[in-house]
Formats: sequence, C-alpha cells, structure tokens
Amino acid sequence: MEKRIAIIRGDGIGPEIMTQAIAVLDAVAAKFGHTFIYEEAPMGGNAIDAFGVPLPESSLATCLSCDSALLSAIGGPKWDTIDPAIRPEKGLLALRAGMKLYANLRPAEMIPQLKDACPLRPEIVEKGINFLVVRELIGGAYFGEHKTWEENGEMAAHDIMAYKEHEIRRIARVGFETAMKRNKKMCSVDKANVLDSSKLWRKIVNEMAPEFPEVELRHMYVDNAAMQLIRDPSQFDVIVTENLFGDILSDEASQIVGSIGMLPSASLGDGTCGLYEPIHGSAPDIAGQDLANPIGMILAAAMMLRYSLEMPEEAAAIEEAVNKTLESGLRTGDIMEEGMTRVGCKAMGEAIVKMIG
Ligand code: IPM
Ligand code: MG
Repeated sequence: MEKRIAIIRGDGIGPEIMTQAIAVLDAVAAKFGHTFIYEEAPMGGNAIDAFGVPLPESSLATCLSCDSALLSAIGGPKWDTIDPAIRPEKGLLALRAGMKLYANLRPAEMIPQLKDACPLRPEIVEKGINFLVVRELIGGAYFGEHKTWEENGEMAAHDIMAYKEHEIRRIARVGFETAMKRNKKMCSVDKANVLDSSKLWRKIVNEMAPEFPEVELRHMYVDNAAMQLIRDPSQFDVIVTENLFGDILSDEASQIVGSIGMLPSASLGDGTCGLYEPIHGSAPDIAGQDLANPIGMILAAAMMLRYSLEMPEEAAAIEEAVNKTLESGLRTGDIMEEGMTRVGCKAMGEAIVKMIG
C-alpha cells in the first residue's frame, strides 16, 4: 500500500524523536512492502520563527490531504513571551479544530518491564492498570469565548465552558464504542454537582446508554476521579470526559503508569485521518542532546498504522519490537533502572528498527 503521512517535526526534542519514528516506519514499509510518503507540515514555535504563525495554512492543507498526520511535540520557553495570539499551542488547537478531531484517545497501560517505575504502591499496581481516557478535544473552555477586560480599576477575565448536545453525543459515542471493544466499562467524568455543562453532559450520556446495553456505565465527579485514579486505577476501563478535565486527568494517568515518555495518543474525527502524537511535551531542557525517549513517538506511529492506515499487523510489529528492545535491557535516561543499559534517543530508535528486521 502507498500512504501519505503529514509529518510535524515540532520543537525541542520533537525533531530527534520524529527522526527515529520515521526510521521505524521505513523499516515497517520495507518489511511489509509498503510505501510511505512523508509530507512536511511545520507547526508550533518553529513555524512562528519561519512563517510568523504557529500553523501556516499550507500545513493544515497538507494534514487534511494526507492519509494521516504524525506530530512530535511543540512549544518551549523561547516562545513563552510572544503575543499570546500566536503562541505555539494555538497552532495545535487550530490544527485539532481544522481537522475536526473531536476525540482524543489516551491509553494508560502499565508496561510490565517498567512496573518498578510506577509511583504507586506494589499492591495497587498488582491489580493491573489498563485504562483509556477518551477526551473531548475541540469544545469546552478551550474553545469558548476567552476574554480579558478592565472593570472598576481591576482586571477581569473569563473563559466560557460550553457544550452543545451534538458535541457531547459524538464523543460519548466514541466512549461507548471504545468500551465495547475493551472491557465494556465506561466511567463518564463530569462536575454535574456544580456545572450546567456537566449536567447536560450527564443527561446526554444517560440518554445514550440504552443503545449500549452491554456497557456498564457509571458517572463520577472529576475531583473524585482524580483521587480514585491514584487510589485504585484498576477500577477503570474507559473514562470519557470533557476537554479540560481530560487534559488534567490524562497527565495524571501518564504518571500512574510510569514514564510519560512512553505513551502515545490519537486524535480522531469522523473520517479515518487522525493526528497521532506522544502525550509528552517538547522537553526543551534536554533538546538536541540525544537524551530523549523516542518510544512514545514510535508507539504513536504504531497507533496511526492501526487506527488510520488499516495496518494492524504492522502496528503490532512495532509494539513487539519496542517490548523486545525493553526486554533486552536498553533504557533511556527517564526510565533507567539499576542493571539496565543506558542509551540515547538515537541508539534506542536504532535498536527498535533492528528488532523489526
Ligand atoms: C495536551 C497539551 C495541550 C492541551 C496544550 C499543549 C495546548 O497539554 O495535548 O494535553 O492542553 O490540550
Ligand atoms: Mg495536556
């Protein structure tokens, strides 16, 4: 098969981990007889430097015309003080909205080889950790009106968190359908004891439940969910939640399973074209030093093969290569443990490529 993939190399450690992911994709293409055509789509701080905007129109057009898009990470202190209207993050939000990617899937799974990196007590870890956060991605406070004004001699600001019925319905559907493919349990997280947007959220989710009689549905307030995730993460299968709550809970989830450098995520809309990225940031402090862990990025490429490019076998080959590489004892600095061999970003990528063979 021939597939076109939009490549967003990003900022900080972005370019170096992307180089490794592309090497892995090339190895998969060679092994399975595919052709991947990579099309550069600059976005983030580097795009601000080169084009004056975080998401040039041509980059969005490239992403929309490709079969899927692969993103590393964007942002950094260099752009922290620029005009907020063109911050690197604006590029990411515009890309999500422009590609109509309303569903963000963030799996949190304990990798057995790394269970010692989990900060929770062993008796909690032993129960198993394998859940998936389904986060609404283009609504809520992120996309409501943002306003700052002056009133009676002081500043005031608001960000409106609004949801329309159809926005809740489509993300809840992704939650239910994902739960059907997993362990058929869904926890909808909201703040319905306080927020109107959450009351509507809960009402719609409940209305849809009869369509999925096999899914065991429950609701949880977000503060309690933050606590339960640490107390006993084994109780969760699929967590479906709105944008801001999902942003917060998915960072918490990543820490629960050990290294934030290991987890991929997928952003999807109604079509098959998605945006795949590791969940970590651009780590500017270690950029360009060959210290980054490329595994989250490489697993994002695997996720892309599975969900957008109809290549499940190829995806499994990557995942297996990652597992075998970890089993062989190689570790980047962030997941280093006693008795293991410490390697850099490049060597880790090369080892995974070799395992694919
Ligand atoms: C994420 C990030 C983004 C978000 C930032 C970079 C805008 O934290 O993907 O979780 O808040 O969605
Ligand atoms: Mg986040």
